[in-house]
Amino acid sequence: MSSAKGLTRTQLLAESWTTVAQQYEKRLAPLFQPWLDQLVGAVDAGQLPEGPVIVPACGPGIELLMLARAIPGERQVIGIDLAQGMVDVAQARLQACSDSLLRQRVSACAGDACKLAGFGPPPALIFSCFGLQQMPEPQEVLLGWLAALEPGGLLAVAYWPPPAGQREIAFSSLTDPGLLKGGAMGQPAWDEEISSRIMEAGGDLLIDDSPNHNMAFDSPAECFEVMMDAGPLHSRLLRYGPEHMQTLKNSYCKRFRRTGSGFVISPNARRLIIRRQSIRSAL
Ligand SMILES: C[S@@+](CC[C@H](N)C(=O)[O-])C[C@H]1O[C@@H](n2cnc3c(N)ncnc32)[C@H](O)[C@@H]1O
Repeated sequence: MSSAKGLTRTQLLAESWTTVAQQYEKRLAPLFQPWLDQLVGAVDAGQLPEGPVIVPACGPGIELLMLARAIPGERQVIGIDLAQGMVDVAQARLQACSDSLLRQRVSACAGDACKLAGFGPPPALIFSCFGLQQMPEPQEVLLGWLAALEPGGLLAVAYWPPPAGQREIAFSSLTDPGLLKGGAMGQPAWDEEISSRIMEAGGDLLIDDSPNHNMAFDSPAECFEVMMDAGPLHSRLLRYGPEHMQTLKNSYCKRFRRTGSGFVISPNARRLIIRRQSIRSAL
C-alpha cells in the first residue's frame, strides 16, 4: 500500500479509486446496478435539446453504453472520472463492445468533473450516479452542472445522502464511520435546501425521490470488507491504515448482526431529475 501522507483529498480519492477499480466493477457495481437502471430509466431521451451527454464520475463506465443505447442518434456520450484506473476499465469495456457505431459515440477520459468548463458545447444531459457525494461542496457542484446545461437540458443525479437522509443505518455507518461513535448525526445535511436552490437557479425538479434496494452479503464482516476492498472505505484505509480499519470493522460487526442466513441491508439513494428551464422570465 502506498503512503497517503501529504495527498490532498482529491489526490487520495484518485489513488484509492484507481487501486480498487477492478474490484469495484466486479463486487460493488453489480449491487449498485438497480439504482443505475432506475436513473437511466428516468431520462426522457425524446425531450433532450441539442448537445452531448456528459457523465461525471463514470467509474468503470457501465452507464456509458447504457445511455448510448437509451438515447438513439449520433450524440456523443463522454464519461469523466478522477481515477485513471477507472478510466482504463471503462475504456476496456468500450473497446470490447461489438457495435462499432456505439463505440464511435462513447468515450471516457480522466479529469475532475466538479467543473465542466472545457468539455465542449453545452451538454443536453449531465448524468451522474454515486459520484456527487464524494465531491467537495456537492451542492455547488450540482448547481454548476445545472448552469452548464443547454437550456431545456436534463440533469440526472443519484447520490448517497448524508446521514440525516439515509434510512439504513447499517449503510451510513459504512460510508460515514463516525456514526459508529454516534458523532455525525447532529451535523446539518449538505442537501437540506437543495430543492429550493435548484428552483432559484432556474431548474424544474421533475423527480426527487429516495428509492431503496436490497444488498445481500454473507455477514456484516463481508459487507465491511467489500466496502473497504472495492469501495468508498478504501480511501480511509489508505489514509489511516489497517489497524484503524480493523478497529472500525470490529465495532461494525459488534453493532450489526447477521440475520438468518446472511446480512441484507436496504439503503436508499436520493435521485434527482432536473430540467434547466428554456426561457427565463425577463421581468
Ligand atoms: C462509487 S463510484 C461510481 C461509479 C459509477 N458512476 C457507478 O455508478 O458505478 C464513484 C466514482 O466517483 C469518482 N469521482 C470522485 N470524485 C470525482 C471528481 N471530482 N471528478 C470525477 N470523478 C470523481 C471516483 O473516482 C469513482 O470512480
